[in-house]
Amino acid sequence: MSAPYYEDDSVTLHHGDCLDVLRELPDASVDAVVTDPPYALEFMGKTWDGWSTPAAFQEWCGLWAAECLRVLKPGGHMLAFGGSRTWHRLASAVEDAGFEIRDSIAWLYGSGFPKSLDVSKAIDKAAGAEREVIGINEDYLRRKPNGMKTPGASAYSYSVNDLPTNADITAPATDAAHQWQGWGTTLKPAFEPIVLGRKPLDGTVAANVLAHGTGALNIDGCRVGTELITQHGRGESSNASMSGRNYAEPAGRSWEGRWPANVVLDDTQAAELDRQAPDAGAQRPVRGVEPSAPTDSIYGSRNRVQGPFHGDKGGASRFFPTFRYEAKAPTSERPRVGEVAHPTVKPLDLMRWLVRLVTPPGGVVLEPFAGSGTTAEACVLEGFRCIAIEREADYLPLIVSRLSKPLQLGLELGA
Ligand SMILES: C[S@@+](CC[C@H](N)C(=O)[O-])C[C@H]1O[C@@H](n2cnc3c(N)ncnc32)[C@H](O)[C@@H]1O
Repeated sequence: MSAPYYEDDSVTLHHGDCLDVLRELPDASVDAVVTDPPYALEFMGKTWDGWSTPAAFQEWCGLWAAECLRVLKPGGHMLAFGGSRTWHRLASAVEDAGFEIRDSIAWLYGSGFPKSLDVSKAIDKAAGAEREVIGINEDYLRRKPNGMKTPGASAYSYSVNDLPTNADITAPATDAAHQWQGWGTTLKPAFEPIVLGRKPLDGTVAANVLAHGTGALNIDGCRVGTELITQHGRGESSNASMSGRNYAEPAGRSWEGRWPANVVLDDTQAAELDRQAPDAGAQRPVRGVEPSAPTDSIYGSRNRVQGPFHGDKGGASRFFPTFRYEAKAPTSERPRVGEVAHPTVKPLDLMRWLVRLVTPPGGVVLEPFAGSGTTAEACVLEGFRCIAIEREADYLPLIVSRLSKPLQLGLELGA
């Protein structure tokens, strides 16, 4: 294998096409794959980067997913981001490569911009009719790209491409344009799916975990919030949970934080949820959210445990992991070297949560589509090793600059 572009105690960064680099990695040598590949959002009508059709994109996903499967240990998980319009191809390719699809995580955010055709304007344009300018789109002016150099931006970015072409607000000029005023072609993008796949196990989950350290999710490491959640043994009254007793008694269990959900929010989504449901599930026992303890009857009636009891109150967002959206992240999280920045930087805290969810302590994470290196930095902060691959030479210094700066402080979920 050619020499890495960069290497330190935690990260090995390769410059090249991931397929070439992956083929040189040994079988069963990584614990998890956490990756943010291109979403192929531009191929409809435009040939982009070799994917002239959705099927071609799926075929390509199948090639790298098969290599990821090979280099993963048995039971190893893969988390792969997809675009809302193309992830069915990604998920099918991951499954066809041999992964078991275990779940899909929806990352909800509020700052996307609809890339919609204005049907009324299109009608006037086709008729050659001039529209009168009646105002200025302030939102466009706020979001206007600042001209930074973003190689490959068209392939990955909502933020740069989904803007209207100019700031003018215009009035319909023809009768037909009047009739179709207010009609468009797309929704506002507000979620990205993340496919969760698992390489087939070597035996049972228990045997696989013991033999390879992989096969399970780090539930307690990824709990949401800090409130104490208590599950009581049989016979304890539900009122007891509110009475201030010590709940960590032998018959029951206590956890800090809620079971990690397959929906994660950005802070705008969390604020909206709290506005609509400011007092969700306050101060009462909740059944069936956490799994009950093992039972010895088919319906689980014997030895059934009560709870858990969430002795907290507040808005509904506290049920979900919440991460800052990168558009508002501090400059320290968005590396820039000279004129180069990356157009689709993921939130660092989100990536930390994801790598922690699927990687055993001290494990090795593979990221075949490194971009600006968010996954690699997340691995360093979580104490994992990372093998990262990036094809665009312009982005490599961004990754190195991330890894050379002082480490960030700890991750606070739902903060
Ligand atoms: C969606 S971006 C990743 C962004 C990253 N998560 C971040 O936070 O900065 C995908 C990256 O994959 C890279 N890429 C695309 N095709 C590749 C290939 N065949 N091999 C390696 N990297 C590739 C692109 O240059 C791009 O930087």
